[in-house]
Amino acid sequence: MLNNFNSEAFLSKHWQKSPCLIKNALSQVPDFISAEELAGLALDEEVESRIVSSIDNQWQVQQGPFEESIFSNLGESQWTLLVQTLDFWLPEINQLLQDFNFIPRWRFDDVMVSYATDGGGVGPHYDNYDVFLIQTQGQRRWRVGTKDNLPPTNPLIEGLKHLQEFEPVIDVVMQPGDILYVPPETAHWGQSIGESMGYSIGYRAPQQRDLLALLAEHFESSHADQSHSFFDDSYRSRNNPANLLEPELIDWAKHQLALLAKDESLLVDLLGRSLSRSKIDCVPLEPTDCQSLSAYKSIKILPGLNTNYFVSSDKVQVFIEGDCYPFELASEPAISALLSGQQLTISELKQMLTKVDFSLTLTNLINIGYFLINM
Ligand code: SIN
Ligand code: CO
Repeated sequence: MLNNFNSEAFLSKHWQKSPCLIKNALSQVPDFISAEELAGLALDEEVESRIVSSIDNQWQVQQGPFEESIFSNLGESQWTLLVQTLDFWLPEINQLLQDFNFIPRWRFDDVMVSYATDGGGVGPHYDNYDVFLIQTQGQRRWRVGTKDNLPPTNPLIEGLKHLQEFEPVIDVVMQPGDILYVPPETAHWGQSIGESMGYSIGYRAPQQRDLLALLAEHFESSHADQSHSFFDDSYRSRNNPANLLEPELIDWAKHQLALLAKDESLLVDLLGRSLSRSKIDCVPLEPTDCQSLSAYKSIKILPGLNTNYFVSSDKVQVFIEGDCYPFELASEPAISALLSGQQLTISELKQMLTKVDFSLTLTNLINIGYFLINM
């Protein structure tokens, strides 16, 4: 639970609307990774990282992976190292998300960790993401503007979407344990005071074009029904100019889109699968071959797995890392508890899940390797 924080007041006043500073939000300051370990990750070619520096007022962005020598050549100040997707590289960090369960998990994008030297930062900019900036070590001065009031961009700095100076509504020196929420399209600018570290919990919002891309992907796949999709102009009885785009064609297109919009099960399936796909797929544990759950004491979902579920009139569809597992409706409370990370005993599960879900569907998921087992 975050201190000094009321999630419902936050949602109605700030979420997607205005920035918000939560002082001393965390009584226990997260310490999942040291600056040295973060630098070590940035040497790995699989890890997405970048260094932004503004040495002698010359802004520069370098993309990882890096050679170890870069850190001794950078000097003592005016640079920052940013490493993405720590939720994958350091699954323990997912514990942090428990405090943010007032935002649906399907909105989550990744946890980024940054280390900065004195004066370091990425400069004044905006993102298309909602972000909670958690100060974990040292101090950073953060300035934040208002939403949808972006100053002109600064085109002179290549590789950085920098903004020109803006009027901050928040101008604060953040201390370890403080959290700052910044909505999308809102100018913000962090500058380290001495050495500091911060974690950014980023949330993405699906966009119209993502939906269209999912539909395109679906219709290109072999299992899509292609049977009734051709334009039919057997009604034609008079000559039109040969090059005219006729209103009937546009009406046909509108009708096709309306048919798709009515296909709720297709939309649920496409969104559930795509929003449960992690940026980097979380690998299940070694598969097991358990026939009977009675050998186990309790289970808990593997941290870092990306999951969501949809409740329709006759079933619950559970999506895990891009795949769908149907459960019976009565099992919903158990699904909700398990997916939110609660540890449940096998006897609790036996009572909460339907017979089929307990003995078949759950066993299947355990065998795939999606649960940590307590014997
Ligand atoms: C940082 O941690 O310095 C950058 C985070 C952000 O601006 O989104
Ligand atoms: Co930002």
